[in-house]
Amino acid sequence: MTASIPQRFLTGITTTGTPHLGNYVGAIRPTVQASRRAGTENFYFLADYHALIKCGEPARVQRSTLEIAACWLAAGLDPEHVFFYRQSDIPEIPELTWLLTCVTGKGLLNRAHAYKAAVDKNTAAGADQDDGVTAGLFMYPVLMAADIILFNAHKVPVGRDQVQHIEMARDMASSFNHLYGEHFTLPEAQVDEHVALLPGLDGRKMSKSYDNVIALFAPPAQIRKQIASIVTDSRAPGEPKDTEGSALFQIYQAFASADETTALRQAYADGIAWGDAKQLLFERIDSEIAPMRERYDALVNNPAQLETILRRGADKARALATPFIGTLRQAVGLRNLASQEARPGKDKPRDALPVFKQYREADGKFYFKLLDADGSLLLQSGAFDTPREAGQLIAGLKQQDAQALAQIAPWWSSTRDAHEVLRQFAED
Ligand code: TRP
Repeated sequence: MTASIPQRFLTGITTTGTPHLGNYVGAIRPTVQASRRAGTENFYFLADYHALIKCGEPARVQRSTLEIAACWLAAGLDPEHVFFYRQSDIPEIPELTWLLTCVTGKGLLNRAHAYKAAVDKNTAAGADQDDGVTAGLFMYPVLMAADIILFNAHKVPVGRDQVQHIEMARDMASSFNHLYGEHFTLPEAQVDEHVALLPGLDGRKMSKSYDNVIALFAPPAQIRKQIASIVTDSRAPGEPKDTEGSALFQIYQAFASADETTALRQAYADGIAWGDAKQLLFERIDSEIAPMRERYDALVNNPAQLETILRRGADKARALATPFIGTLRQAVGLRNLASQEARPGKDKPRDALPVFKQYREADGKFYFKLLDADGSLLLQSGAFDTPREAGQLIAGLKQQDAQALAQIAPWWSSTRDAHEVLRQFAED
């Protein structure tokens, strides 16, 4: 690959809930910074189809999409510079989801963590294993794979919990490539280990499910009140304080420069009063958030403008997606009936491999066939007493073992060169 091909980064933001400071520090801020790197193309989208899996309240889905879009723009994402769009504005995504569904083993999806967790919970409760599990939850990884590979992303920045989904996307992309030719880039997860994990008000990880969050764009008075409720120890003013394990210190650090952090560390050692430390934290956060809050409020109060921005983003994304889905439709055979390729066998995908098929006959013996990718017979084996013998010969053939090749010579029925056909397995 040459250096001039831009690396494509793509990530989705599920549109449930209202962003909090933990989301800002852990995802929004680093991602907005990353979007400005030279030599990259960046795709960020509002995953509202995914939101439907978790949330059945239409007004909340809508509100949350509005707030999250406004947040990312207020935080400095430049929609002219990146691809910023809403998943449900791209009909090519659900279309690709179906194409991938048809090349994805159900067993692969059975192993997805989120689905397995639901099954385990049901099993523990003595309920039917699929109790309350929608097909949407089950299919979640396929929709996500479509999001990613529709744009041939190289890198997908995600949290640890999403890594399995990216691996599944790779599996689906390679199954499709294998069957229909090399259409998709195999994506890789990118997990940033250095991003700050923000503690919440009670010192545990800041998370909506712990109800310990500081909302990102709440009015200043509310943020001040939430900061006042951060758990500290009972040391009095004048007593030295520990920075180790201090949620207040860690939150401060996520917003402060190195010098400011050093200064607060010193103030802890000098016995700063908790009330004063909280005041410092409030001011530090507010100085970063206040200018963004203005932009945020302006956007949230002007949904029509946001709608325009998102539609423009969708146009930009679809300029890539629409022709690509056309190629994919062609590849799988959803075609204009008058087109040339309608004759079977004419369209053998460039990279499709021949297949070995093992089976047992009525005589109780075991056999295999080698079929070309278009289904024509290349080889019909003789009889084996056990499936193991047949399997060993197949393995030898795939490695182009000379003895194995000699053994099949009498059975070879194709005009094509056996070496050449079998070499494709080695290259795969
Ligand atoms: N599942 C992701 C999450 O919950 C959101 C998401 C949807 C996503 N589609 C994606 C992330 C594609 C990366 C790429 O965080």
